[in-house]
Amino acid sequence: MKFCVQPGGSLTGTLRVPGDKSMSHRSVMLGSLAEGVTKVSGFLEGDDALATVAAFRAMGVTIDGPDQGCLTIHGVGLAGLQAPSAVLDMGNSGTSMRLLSGILAGQSFDSVLTGDASLLRRPMGRVITPLARMGASIDSQDKGLPPLSVRGGSALQGIHYDLPMASAQVKSCVLLAGLFATGRTSVTEPAPTRDHTERMLRGFGYAVENNNGVIGLEGGGSLRGTDIDIPADISSAAFFLVGASIAPGSDLLLQHVGMNPTRTGVLTILQLMGADITVLNEREVGGEPVADLRVRSAPLRGIDIPQEEVPLAIDEFPALFIAAACAEGTTILSGAEELRVKESDRIASMAAGLTTLGINNEVRPDGIVIHGGELGAGSVETFHDHRIAMSFAMAALRARGPIDILDCDHVATSFPGFANLASEAGLGLEVIPTATSGTR
Ligand code: S3P
Repeated sequence: MKFCVQPGGSLTGTLRVPGDKSMSHRSVMLGSLAEGVTKVSGFLEGDDALATVAAFRAMGVTIDGPDQGCLTIHGVGLAGLQAPSAVLDMGNSGTSMRLLSGILAGQSFDSVLTGDASLLRRPMGRVITPLARMGASIDSQDKGLPPLSVRGGSALQGIHYDLPMASAQVKSCVLLAGLFATGRTSVTEPAPTRDHTERMLRGFGYAVENNNGVIGLEGGGSLRGTDIDIPADISSAAFFLVGASIAPGSDLLLQHVGMNPTRTGVLTILQLMGADITVLNEREVGGEPVADLRVRSAPLRGIDIPQEEVPLAIDEFPALFIAAACAEGTTILSGAEELRVKESDRIASMAAGLTTLGINNEVRPDGIVIHGGELGAGSVETFHDHRIAMSFAMAALRARGPIDILDCDHVATSFPGFANLASEAGLGLEVIPTATSGTR
């Protein structure tokens, strides 16, 4: 399908975007490995998290649902997974593949992990290296690319690993493998990244320490089934935060948004740009901070994005680039080379679309310079990347003419129902089926 978005309009009303993708994956993984029943609410019924559900079902875990965001997971314990009878297909989901690698490395059975064309281009050497040091045996294709063959029966040994890049997926992979390892497994990271794995492990009664940035756990414990209420995904809320900021006359309330401090870089960056966002009703739900966010349109200015905010806003840059395109002056992003290995090369993908729409920009190896200007009409490619599609949909709010966004099927990986929710809020979005709809 493609999106055809009419120019102008504003975003108003009250809405709740779907559940957090990172927490949804982890709830299934830890719920499956726990003893007893785990009840999840607010689960994201997107293709990525559903790929994780399918993988654990294939390994013998009974999972009821999802039904309106509710899942019941009948945990099998750390030693209870069974050999899958087929290859585990992770679809578009890097989180599923990287975190599962850590879990599978600790099993007695062999397994193979594959994915769609985008996932087959994403680097897995970053998880194979530490897992091999723990004693795992994992074969990849050339240059560490998937499919991955994980050989079972390796006795894992706890290690200390200094992460070479700020990646919550690598950190989580190593810690999850550490559950199955002898002794202590610990990591340090070059900059703080999302800590949902650590928080959720504690929620399942598993001790995880963070001593001055050394994050560690002892292998061989057990997880206790629990109830998990997953808040709305701040990464999905980000499209609406940007849309309402750039569209004159907007006033939007986003409910029950996850406010984990390792995820709120998008708020800090938008506020530095002059956005009018009020954090309301702050509370804690199941070990994670949550709030409602009121966002009203405001004139934005270009900024030099602080380096320390990059890992804290890593998934929100496509949306933030649209804010930069609508800002007065120049926005500079550097230290963000990780964007090049997401679902697409997000620096190149966004630069291509911005150029099509008449926004001057200069691509750098580790970032981009965007000169705020007037968005024109045009037809942009998504490079099969959900966040590129949703970002350019919001750009139409300030464009001179319609924006056609080609190949939007992947939006369902993280944000099923985006088109309806955005239309209800005031975006002039029409979904147009195309001949290739549904193909990957
Ligand atoms: C995620 C971590 C991030 C993020 C991804 C989800 C996670 O990836 O981009 O969407 O759930 O741990 P990296 O760890 O590769 O930065």
